[in-house]
Amino acid sequence: MSTNKQQYLSGFGNEFATEALPGALPEGQNSPQRVALGLYAEQLSGTAFTAPRHSNRRSWLYRIRPAAMHHPFAAMPAGRFHNRFDEVPANPNQLRWDPLPLPTEPTDFVDGLVTMAGNGGPGEQSGVGIHLYVANRSMQGRFFYNADGELLIVPQLGRLKLVTELGVIELEPLEVAVIPRGVRFRVELLDDSARGYVAENFGALLRLPDLGPIGSNGLANPRDFLTPVAAYEDVEGQFELIAKFQGGLWRAAIDHSPLDVVGWHGNYAPYKYDLRRFNTIGSISFDHPDPSIFLVLHSPSDTPGVSNMDFVIFPPRWLVAQHTFRPPWFHRNIASEFMGLITGAYDAKAEGFVPGGASLHNCMSGHGPDAATYEKASTRALSQPDVITGTMAFMFETRRVIHPTRQALEAPQLQGNYYECWQGIAKHFTGK
Ligand SMILES: [Fe+2]
Repeated sequence: MSTNKQQYLSGFGNEFATEALPGALPEGQNSPQRVALGLYAEQLSGTAFTAPRHSNRRSWLYRIRPAAMHHPFAAMPAGRFHNRFDEVPANPNQLRWDPLPLPTEPTDFVDGLVTMAGNGGPGEQSGVGIHLYVANRSMQGRFFYNADGELLIVPQLGRLKLVTELGVIELEPLEVAVIPRGVRFRVELLDDSARGYVAENFGALLRLPDLGPIGSNGLANPRDFLTPVAAYEDVEGQFELIAKFQGGLWRAAIDHSPLDVVGWHGNYAPYKYDLRRFNTIGSISFDHPDPSIFLVLHSPSDTPGVSNMDFVIFPPRWLVAQHTFRPPWFHRNIASEFMGLITGAYDAKAEGFVPGGASLHNCMSGHGPDAATYEKASTRALSQPDVITGTMAFMFETRRVIHPTRQALEAPQLQGNYYECWQGIAKHFTGK
């Protein structure tokens, strides 16, 4: 593997140019008759050629061998990672799961993906697949790409090294990374085991939200998004290339590492973001703004203002609102909410929602603080701020109902008694 002193380029959706060897990139054109260093030119486009300029994404890759060079794909046996969101009827219950146990058998990132829920699909290029992963070893001798969607990876336990065609991202819990649709990569573990969440976005590429009256700064700032510099490996051997294509996994033999891009330029590339850099905004008088103020990235739908998918976080923050119930009040939304917890405690639940666990509150299903949280928050003095520290919860929120998979509903981690957290809510009604 080549090395490069500066590991990342800063900015969101910028035009970057990076080369692991001097002179790898052509000057002034994309596709010269012969590329320097004996490389091949290849375009990787992530949006329609004619997409508006502000949303157009593509990169030019200069590589040792073209991506076409591999043996035929054959279907792999269906595992726990899929897009079958119609196996069982979606139900309106509030659902919550304990964390998946760490594997005892050798399990890499691809082996360890477990589909929990989702909607839409790759065929219609909208919706999202929601997966968990658990792993205890690096991917060895195999590479992966997803033709169905971009992958938003949210580690909860253990550091990952994402070795991609376009460079290397080192990722730790409280950071997230996005691997674009089609980009080939290998996941290595930097610790003994790893666990986390993945959103597979079938729809429009994740982007930074508009800020409206907030102004030109705030929430996730573009400069905190980091794209790796070019890095390549020139390795031959008997390897496996795994593709996720139309919901299934396919594998092909390949006699070299496909991570052989020596230089690239463009704006379609992996990136990472440290959630601790999120500039959190909230009320300094009374009441709650809607949780859209916690929006990190969103995938727009065809309807203005309505997201295909939102990635929202609940970071450490100060709650200062006066004569206000400070945790989120009870609510029912048209959107559907899949939540995870990276670390600490979530302020609307006293217990039961633990790091690595998950909850699902679908369209119009009532939810909110549990009985213990209500009693505490409705009686506490408001003369001092509540300072929430050491926590990071997040939400994959979608316009469509999130359908749990059969394996999610049959998992021993599903908490059969979740509904009980609201059963102790006292009747305080004083009217007659
Ligand atoms: Fe909610």
